[in-house]
Amino acid sequence: MRVLTGIQASGKLHIGNYFGAMKPMIELQESEELFTFIANYHSLTTSKNANLLKQLTLDAAIDYLSLGIDPNKTTFWVQSDVPQVLELYWILSKFTPMGLLERAHSYKDKVAKGIPANHALFSYPVLMAADILLLDTQKVPVGKDQIQHVEITRDIATKLNNEYGEIFTLPEYIVNDDLATIPGIDGQKMSKSYDNAIDIFMETEKKLQKRCNKIISSSTPLGEPLEFNGCNIYNLASLFLDKDKKIELQNRYQSGKEGYGHFKKYLKDLIWSEFEEAREKRAYYLEHQDIVRDILNDGANKMRKIADAKMATVREAVGIL
Ligand code: ADP
Ligand code: TRP
Repeated sequence: MRVLTGIQASGKLHIGNYFGAMKPMIELQESEELFTFIANYHSLTTSKNANLLKQLTLDAAIDYLSLGIDPNKTTFWVQSDVPQVLELYWILSKFTPMGLLERAHSYKDKVAKGIPANHALFSYPVLMAADILLLDTQKVPVGKDQIQHVEITRDIATKLNNEYGEIFTLPEYIVNDDLATIPGIDGQKMSKSYDNAIDIFMETEKKLQKRCNKIISSSTPLGEPLEFNGCNIYNLASLFLDKDKKIELQNRYQSGKEGYGHFKKYLKDLIWSEFEEAREKRAYYLEHQDIVRDILNDGANKMRKIADAKMATVREAVGIL
């Protein structure tokens, strides 16, 4: 199955991103033909600073490679290195009724948040359709907010197919409803916007411990059994534990011999060791950014070949010399 994921590079990644989006995505490379790219043309729609956009693009590549994207299994590239997507975007625009875009929630939400209403923001779904259709993508794993964009893609593809024959594969979205919402240190949804996140790549173990110490817990005095149900520390720790280890931790809570401080230290140890290999890889890639660029170039070369073949068909169909 050909699966495509697009990454919006938005800075430091947290544990919510990891368990809610990255880990399930990276696991797909074991069973599917996975294509993953960094959507820097999409990020341009909301970027305010050129250097920052470049930096975030490269940082995202380094983070995803460190956390497990394997370039031997996954085609991994930066969107702007395959400019054919912009040609397809233009051609698809011709098959995109204005009403379809006017109904898009994400445009309205962004404008409501104060992002200036410009044409790139408005036509964002058409570029996303081009990403998806250029590749004959079969499945697109998305968060709920992106479902409508895949539906718009299907509408555009259907219009063109009706006129010119079966040029495009109709993609389907995959939404993982089972994925839990990961809580932040205050128990609300972990988010970089709420100042409640625990970042994956903390600089030192000490800083990670400090962050874990800020997790809000109840005030049961030391010596009394603790309730693990609904405890933020327990909920975060259990992400890293198998069934037996969870029961072990529940027993420790109930024994009354340990306090929240012990469990915050235990959580810190779990997080620190879970990402140890990723941290080492990241340090390596940060030192050897030429290797990262080579990986992205290889991915882009592979994609450009696929894109050229598809564009030859599309151009021929619509009458571009
Ligand atoms: P943030 O809320 O920090 O801005 P993003 O909106 O950039 O995070 O999310 C990127 C991806 O990570 C999305 O697919 C989203 O569903 C997932 N994600 C973010 N926060 C959480 C969370 N607390 N629990 C589960 N998944 C999350
Ligand atoms: N719009 C997606 C997001 O904000 C990113 C994206 C761009 C994408 N092009 C895509 C996702 C193609 C899947 C397929 O998360």
